[in-house]
Amino acid sequence: MTSSAPRGLWITFEGGDGAGKTTQSTLLEEWLQSQGRTVLRTREPGGTEVGNLIRDIVLHHRGDVAPRAEALLYAADRAHHIETLVRPALSRGEVVIQDRYLDSSVAYQGAGRVLDPNEVRNLSLWAADDALPDVTVLLDLDPVRARERLDADDKPFDRLEAEKLDFHTRVRTAFLALAEAEPERFLVLDATLPASELTAAVRDRVSTLIGDVRAPH
Ligand code: TYD
Repeated sequence: MTSSAPRGLWITFEGGDGAGKTTQSTLLEEWLQSQGRTVLRTREPGGTEVGNLIRDIVLHHRGDVAPRAEALLYAADRAHHIETLVRPALSRGEVVIQDRYLDSSVAYQGAGRVLDPNEVRNLSLWAADDALPDVTVLLDLDPVRARERLDADDKPFDRLEAEKLDFHTRVRTAFLALAEAEPERFLVLDATLPASELTAAVRDRVSTLIGDVRAPH
């Protein structure tokens, strides 16, 4: 029997803004390519033409979007993205490195305290026909540190900023709870570690998975 092409591998990165997802995704992509793998880099919201239109609404629309509408927009982006881009790449044997997935919906839309996190998760699972990544790397960072990284000056928080901080603290707590609920899928890393240590930890986990997916099945 001839050896078959490697099965696809799906890796998502999660975490708050400023946690270093882009740097780590790029380093992982370069490493995988050096191993001879074909890599698809993608993101949510966005990733497809339709997705970019939705991204524009959810990230740039001025004024309120009702929470359920917002959750549905992220889910619609996800449904199209998974069906038209991610699944086909995985079935071609490629590695998909994706910035954010349904865990972001649970953490962010759930953190507004209006929507039930379980309902948000179930909506996304329906949208994506139950697709879940092989591994989800959570770059965990205290929102105060994240803010310091994004904005070097340390004026005291005004009320709005304090509210934002409270929101981002709930997002962080939600991500950590998701990771605790699915320890097999998640790799939780302290984003304050040096980039090289984070890279090594991610490679370690991915190497194990590459080993697994290449095994005869
Ligand atoms: P983006 O510009 O991609 O920034 P980053 O990933 O660097 O934070 O913005 C994505 C934003 O969308 C981010 O603030 C989280 C939010 N988001 C949700 O609220 N729900 C979702 O389901 C997804 C995928 C993202």
